[in-house]
Amino acid sequence: TRNGIDFAVADLSLAEFGRKEIRLAEHEMPGLMALRREYSEVYPLRGARISGSLHMTVQTAVLIETLVALGAEVRWASCNIFSTQDHAAAAVAVGPHGTEEEPKGVPVFAWKGETLEEYWWCTEQMLTWPDGKLPNMLLDDGGDATLLVHKGTEYEKAGVVPSAEDGDPEEWQVILGVLKESLNSSPDKWTKIGKEIRGVTEETTTGVLRLYQLAAAGELLFPAINVNDSVTKSKFDNRYGCRHSLIDGINRATDVLIGGKVALVAGYGDVGKGCAESLRGQGARVIIAEIDPICALQALMDGYQVGTIDDLVDQADIIITSTGNKDVLLVEHMERMKHQAIVGNIGHFDNEIDMAGLARYPGVRRNNIKPQVDEWVFPSGRSIIVLSEGRLLNLGNATGHPSFVMSNSFSNQVIAQIELFTKAEEYDKEVFRLPKKLDEKVARIHVEALGGKLTKLTKEQAEYIDVDVEGPYKPDHYRY
Ligand code: NAI
Repeated sequence: TRNGIDFAVADLSLAEFGRKEIRLAEHEMPGLMALRREYSEVYPLRGARISGSLHMTVQTAVLIETLVALGAEVRWASCNIFSTQDHAAAAVAVGPHGTEEEPKGVPVFAWKGETLEEYWWCTEQMLTWPDGKLPNMLLDDGGDATLLVHKGTEYEKAGVVPSAEDGDPEEWQVILGVLKESLNSSPDKWTKIGKEIRGVTEETTTGVLRLYQLAAAGELLFPAINVNDSVTKSKFDNRYGCRHSLIDGINRATDVLIGGKVALVAGYGDVGKGCAESLRGQGARVIIAEIDPICALQALMDGYQVGTIDDLVDQADIIITSTGNKDVLLVEHMERMKHQAIVGNIGHFDNEIDMAGLARYPGVRRNNIKPQVDEWVFPSGRSIIVLSEGRLLNLGNATGHPSFVMSNSFSNQVIAQIELFTKAEEYDKEVFRLPKKLDEKVARIHVEALGGKLTKLTKEQAEYIDVDVEGPYKPDHYRY
């Protein structure tokens, strides 16, 4: 705690550098800056206490400071152990008007290279407000904050935290440890938090899936807005963001020439489409593995070979998982790969690649090359290069998506926060999407920022295609 602000970052002296990059990013985030202007006298988030769990990058710093500009109090943690940019975290803690000695920013608990114990400690700190205050909004990416509140509430009701079972992932044991400790020290901590929270806005595909599962089971404690499925989020961030940051991660990690190589991409959803395009852009021969015939057909139409990992893994120089599913690349696959083939995951969690199986492989050796780059050497002498220990490599090995695309995603986040905070009572405990009109509003700002000029419908044309001159221009079932 310094100047009344509690925080945990790697190095506060990086704040000045962070502030410079935040300043440049603000110009590239016209959506967020437009929202700041639009609400400069209204403060719609006054009274909001937002606990946020989302990659602590420069772009996220602009999001956080937008929430603050709109009147919110905020506490923050990263949603991944490797994704924090330490200078951004430092700058957020110091704030635009503070100094290293006298920070005036936001309590942030995040540094690059956390252990799992540290990660869940940070998540708990972000949800634990000082002076008996409680968070009343969640902003989540991947659903870890939501998970802690829900599991905590469930176990407090039962009066006991179960023990981990054999075969449970290591991370689950850590989570249970956190909840055991809180049950001992404050037995209704999570129940109180769950009751106070008006809603959660969720950033990504994987977190949204968890929310729909909770809602279907009738277990969702508060309403949720699925930000991911705003068109201006998933069809831009997931796709064009990954088109940019996937190869950024591969290049920074390995600097291997991508041209001429065979790259296997598992998953041809929004993320996979962006990944495939970026690899092809570098001259790689790209092969897609898909389970869904529609996405597989899209891949074929886009000119990619479609095949299975089982059949083709030994041909790949680079393999990227982008499915959001588990057990996609198994150790049986990894042992068959070419010498020094690159293995990376860009899906939200590290269970796409069987890292536990790799670590258990008899006689395997891990040779750390540099942070977030490991060569795993099999007894055969062949090795593979694993990026970010199987965690999302675009944030672990590079700096994630660039500002402009995140301006789209985060504008939806801010709008969703305002919506749920100001109108929570109008929403049931279900998962909602933002209205298309707001999606179009976000897009319009970014079209204008790029110098695009929109064609205006005439009244007659609007009537003919049965839309309003001011939009929305498409029915909800339209797919873009
Ligand atoms: P999506 O649902 O559009 O695409 C996933 C695709 O994987 C689907 O087409 C599905 O049919 C396919 N798939 C599922 N299991 C498979 C398997 N065993 N083998 C081959 N294909 C399989 O989801 P989206 O939006 O592309 O997201 C994918 C993951 O990436 C999620 O975990 C999401 O949270 C994450 N994400 C990561 C970002 C990053 O910056 N690293 C950005 C946005 C999303």
